[in-house]
Amino acid sequence: MMRNILIIGIGAGNPDHMTVQAIEALNRADVLFMPDKGTEKAALQQLRRRICDRFIRNPDYRTVTVAIPQRAPAGSDYRGSVDDWHARIAASYQRLFSEELAEGQCGALLVWGDPALYDSTLRIVERIRASGFALDYEVIPGISSVQVLAARHRIALNRIGEPVLITTGRKLADGFPADQDSVVVMLDGDQTFRHVASAELDIYWGAYLGTPDELLISGRLTEVMAEIEATRAQARQRHGWIMDVYLLRRNRPA
Ligand SMILES: C[S@@+](CC[C@H](N)C(=O)[O-])C[C@H]1O[C@@H](n2cnc3c(N)ncnc32)[C@H](O)[C@@H]1O
Repeated sequence: MMRNILIIGIGAGNPDHMTVQAIEALNRADVLFMPDKGTEKAALQQLRRRICDRFIRNPDYRTVTVAIPQRAPAGSDYRGSVDDWHARIAASYQRLFSEELAEGQCGALLVWGDPALYDSTLRIVERIRASGFALDYEVIPGISSVQVLAARHRIALNRIGEPVLITTGRKLADGFPADQDSVVVMLDGDQTFRHVASAELDIYWGAYLGTPDELLISGRLTEVMAEIEATRAQARQRHGWIMDVYLLRRNRPA
């Protein structure tokens, strides 16, 4: 009998975005593994708790906290430092899986948004299996912050017949990709849109999406850029953290 891990997408901030499948998966789990990144915003941990309290029918559900080690500063070797970090996370999960789950039992990992988008959980679980630890797993999709962004701005991500690129602030720093029409930017702590400022781009920006603190701004990039910067700085100071995502789109066809 193998241990089974349910990797559950829990949506990006609004508990109402939990799917029926995600709720059923939560209720199948014998143990819920809760990451604790130390630096992670208390607000995110609170949301996970609220989801569990609201949707788990057994009031005595069991949680186990997983201390997530800090990533060493990337220096010049970003991939190397991420790889080393994942190895350490995999080791702590593997230890907890063997200590806390009996063979045939089922554990759950609650993943922010959807597990398929800029999240390492799947790679970490694959790494544990590759090391020879017997484990099966299932993925339950969740509503991603990108979907919430599009819904709240009431836009489609792609133009008719055109592609959409999903990338990071780190990549956008190289410039707006010449062959793209619509680009979604995640994981941008530096307001990288400033470096691609052009009257030919529109921006649809959202922060704290799905939460009561949600912020939305859209318009011609050069016209709303300063407002986004000021709003972002203020909100970040007020809350002590921020999560934002945006779509940049050429306002003339590529
Ligand atoms: C590590 S990635 C995880 C993405 C997640 N798996 C998803 O599907 O949304 C974190 C990034 O997602 C975006 N993000 C996640 N939740 C968000 C929210 N509620 N509001 C705005 N952006 C969010 C931000 O760009 C943030 O830097």
